[in-house]
Amino acid sequence: MAGFTVAIDGPAASGKGTLARHIADEYGFHHLDTGLTYRAVAKALLDAGAPLDDESRAAAVAADLDFSGLDRATLSAHGIGEAASRVAVMPQVRAALVEVQRRFAARPPGAVLDGRDIGTVVCPDAPVKLYVTATPEVRARRRFAEIEAAGNGLSYDAVLEDLKKRDARDSARADSPLRPAEDAHLLDTSEMDIEAAFRAAKRLIDAANTDGTRK
Ligand code: DC
Repeated sequence: MAGFTVAIDGPAASGKGTLARHIADEYGFHHLDTGLTYRAVAKALLDAGAPLDDESRAAAVAADLDFSGLDRATLSAHGIGEAASRVAVMPQVRAALVEVQRRFAARPPGAVLDGRDIGTVVCPDAPVKLYVTATPEVRARRRFAEIEAAGNGLSYDAVLEDLKKRDARDSARADSPLRPAEDAHLLDTSEMDIEAAFRAAKRLIDAANTDGTRK
């Protein structure tokens, strides 16, 4: 039998990844940060010196991607996020990645996937869908703090501009744009810490997960 799926979507630096990891830990579920899959395709193209808009080449990289070898440390660089957003507009790339993401979502006893199109496209039947958001300024402050800690010299204003540009591209693309599913629960983390967001998510999951798959 397929496992219980928690679908989490939202823009960059909304807190969805941290929330997804907490939920996976709490319930003993598998976790997939689907942003890493788009980032891995973008990084492979950048490393090969290939253009980011060659759809058939990018789709071939996506089809060959090893989901077990996604390394957050090397893929989390700010510039790779921008490149991933460009790669993610291509339908052939999305089709290849979504197929594997769906198989991951079915892993028992359950899986938490976070991204942009999990509740709308990858797992439209997920029993719990969360849409995590925060104002661009709050998200830019979070991302800026991470970048500063890593010793990168980007200014706060540059980070805010990049996030807004990425939001616009991710929301305006024709294939699987960033938007909440109609049945998603909205969690605005602008003034909510991770513990409060987690408690809200846990209430929703426990109400839906009544067959005892909880740890
Ligand atoms: O969540 P992230 O910053 O790691 O995502 C990087 C880019 O990947 C994001 O700007 C758009 C794309 N993406 C997507 O199109 N669909 C997903 N499910 C996840 C990420």
